[in-house]
Amino acid sequence: MKILIACEESQEVCKAFRYRGHEAFSCDILPCSGGHPEWHIQDDVMNHLFKGWDMMIAHPPCTYLAVSGARWFDTRRYEQMNALKFVKALMDAPIPKIAVENPISVISSAIRKPDQIIQPWMFGHEETKATCLWLKNLPLLKPTRIMQKREPKVHMMPPGKDRAKLRSKTYRGIARAMAQQWG
Ligand SMILES: C[S@@+](CC[C@H](N)C(=O)[O-])C[C@H]1O[C@@H](n2cnc3c(N)ncnc32)[C@H](O)[C@@H]1O
Repeated sequence: MKILIACEESQEVCKAFRYRGHEAFSCDILPCSGGHPEWHIQDDVMNHLFKGWDMMIAHPPCTYLAVSGARWFDTRRYEQMNALKFVKALMDAPIPKIAVENPISVISSAIRKPDQIIQPWMFGHEETKATCLWLKNLPLLKPTRIMQKREPKVHMMPPGKDRAKLRSKTYRGIARAMAQQWG
């Protein structure tokens, strides 16, 4: 399948699908950090939605959407409206199979409730980080390895210039499950 991984610089999901023989490309305004620039489109993903993809997995920015930032919402209405428009454009893209991923966010009230909420501890990581999935023509993701130890590590990361990038990186166990079950 021809698969677009939208808003992904880490290439975690892109590489998981490539490993299974798919023609996957990550797309991000940033250069990729995953080591495969030949599989990366560095551009605004809006320029690449109409290119005959079979599937898209999208990780849109959550800065103005996540409920963890709710205390800033009143002063960020315009940015939030644009962020929601961006998510809606991804959800409405003319691609047969779509998964949009985001933390617990205003997408649920402004667009629609997620189809599923997953956690890294369901996929072999000893961590908690509620992640919502909005799905089109894709089955719910089945847990692959349930962990008993569960810590909110991602929220305890020390400040640093790469903090936001590291916090938003897709977990390898989740990327593999997507490729295994949806590929
Ligand atoms: C929440 S992060 C997702 C990171 C992803 N989980 C990963 O492992 O690389 C959102 C990403 O969207 C990218 N982004 C923001 N606007 C974009 C656009 N218009 N087109 C493509 N990527 C965009 C950002 O640079 C950022 O890397």
